Amino acid sequence: MKYLALVSALLPLLVVGQGPPPPPKAMLTGTDTTMIHLDRCSGRPQHYAAGVLYGVSGTDANLQAYLKEAGIDHVAAGGAQTSTSGWGSSVEAYKARFATVIDDAKRVHELGGTVIIKTSDLWGADDTQPATFPFPGDNGDWTSYDKFIQQLISDIKSSGLALKYVTQIDVWNEPDGKIFWNRSQDQFLEMYKRGVGALRAAFPQNSRYFLPLVGPSTAAPNPNNPWFVNFLEFVSKNKEVEPDIWNWHMEGGGSNDPVEATEVMNRLIRQYNLSGGIGFQNNEYGTREQQRPGYGAWHAARYEKVKFHGLRGNWAGGPTLRDNLADLLIKKDAEGHYRTTGEYQEWKTYAGMKGSPCTTDAGKSIDSYGTLESSQRTAAALVGNQGFTGQATTVFSSVSGLGAGVEAVNAVVQRIPYNNGGEVTSLVKVSSTRIPVIDNQVSVSFTQNDANDAYLITITAV
Ligand SMILES: *[C@@H]1O[C@H](CO)[C@@H](O)[C@H](O)[C@H]1NC(C)=O
Ligand SMILES: *[C@@H]1O[C@H](CO)[C@@H](O)[C@H](O)[C@H]1NC(C)=O
Repeated sequence: MKYLALVSALLPLLVVGQGPPPPPKAMLTGTDTTMIHLDRCSGRPQHYAAGVLYGVSGTDANLQAYLKEAGIDHVAAGGAQTSTSGWGSSVEAYKARFATVIDDAKRVHELGGTVIIKTSDLWGADDTQPATFPFPGDNGDWTSYDKFIQQLISDIKSSGLALKYVTQIDVWNEPDGKIFWNRSQDQFLEMYKRGVGALRAAFPQNSRYFLPLVGPSTAAPNPNNPWFVNFLEFVSKNKEVEPDIWNWHMEGGGSNDPVEATEVMNRLIRQYNLSGGIGFQNNEYGTREQQRPGYGAWHAARYEKVKFHGLRGNWAGGPTLRDNLADLLIKKDAEGHYRTTGEYQEWKTYAGMKGSPCTTDAGKSIDSYGTLESSQRTAAALVGNQGFTGQATTVFSSVSGLGAGVEAVNAVVQRIPYNNGGEVTSLVKVSSTRIPVIDNQVSVSFTQNDANDAYLITITAV
């Protein structure tokens, strides 16, 4: 999750793919181009990149308005790092944590979103547990874990959270790291099988109470990671416990690109004769350094390509872990009132783009999320990058998608500043120009001076 020590310890394993992980992408300078295909737009915006890990138990009164404005529709919650610990400490500690899950879930469900319950937090394995903390199945005794799962099932039902699809259960967080699972993999697999068996019996697939089970939530979904290979072999032999949603984290080296990772995961699913469940999820993505408008918009473009939900990693700790929307918001004054960051403005922009999402092509470093609102004869592109400065060009192809006979557009370029993580309250207008349509295309260029910034390009038929 959010603990720098863990991430650096796992770095050599973290990148999906064969061979050693690539170094982080070097800064690219020069020219780069992304294309938005206005003849390939359909459906409604899904905001695949707009989930957050924790961060919605805010202390300022208007948090719900921010959640809505930033389009946040997936939240993972388990009460991590609340002072009470969890089941491994006492039933009362667990109950206090579960109460925070109910609050978070209600908040998210009220906005039509999905909550992912982090079971390991409710057990108390959240990086604050002492070295002597018990884990499920210690000394071969499963009594406590079985009771825990039955208690969880009963609490989910009695608190009204047994809502099909929009409540999901993450079986255990990052069990391939000692911080969250300080026991053998065999002990984990036994727990996983018991947990999935009991939860699936309570919330069956194909029933109106189907709560998808999310796993294995590995920090290192790498075919060279023996832990992950063992897990694949295990579910290949025990198909009844294959996760409903295959989930892994993207917080390691390189770009944390879900497009590359998805190719690898699809290959592994086929290789191990698995079904792939009902889909994928990355319920933690992005390093702290990637939490900037430029990289954030790039991740949005990438999750829009793979079309499954990603949740922003959370690098806070202690009480702030569950406040501030995983640092999309900052608190500046003594009263603890929220202020918006540049990245928050990028999320708000992403959430506010209307019309149908379009297919887009990435450049060498830049990529875009594009939408077409043909009824308004307008289209937009949110442009991000993996570390680029220079001349960026956004090409809108098949401009006839705006309407027949369009000969020119008004193109507006706006910058979404990083401002070193400080407060940002609005976008900055860079240019507004009339651009002729040539060969049914429009090219809009801008100078990217700071890779940390994102850009919004809007074209409207004139
Ligand atoms: C794991 O358990 C060992 C043995 O009890 C302990 O020494 C170590 O500190 C624990 N590690 C973590 C990360 O909790
Ligand atoms: C997958 O199925 C094929 C064909 O039935 C079989 O040859 C192969 O061994 C299986 N792979 C695994 C990992 O079970």
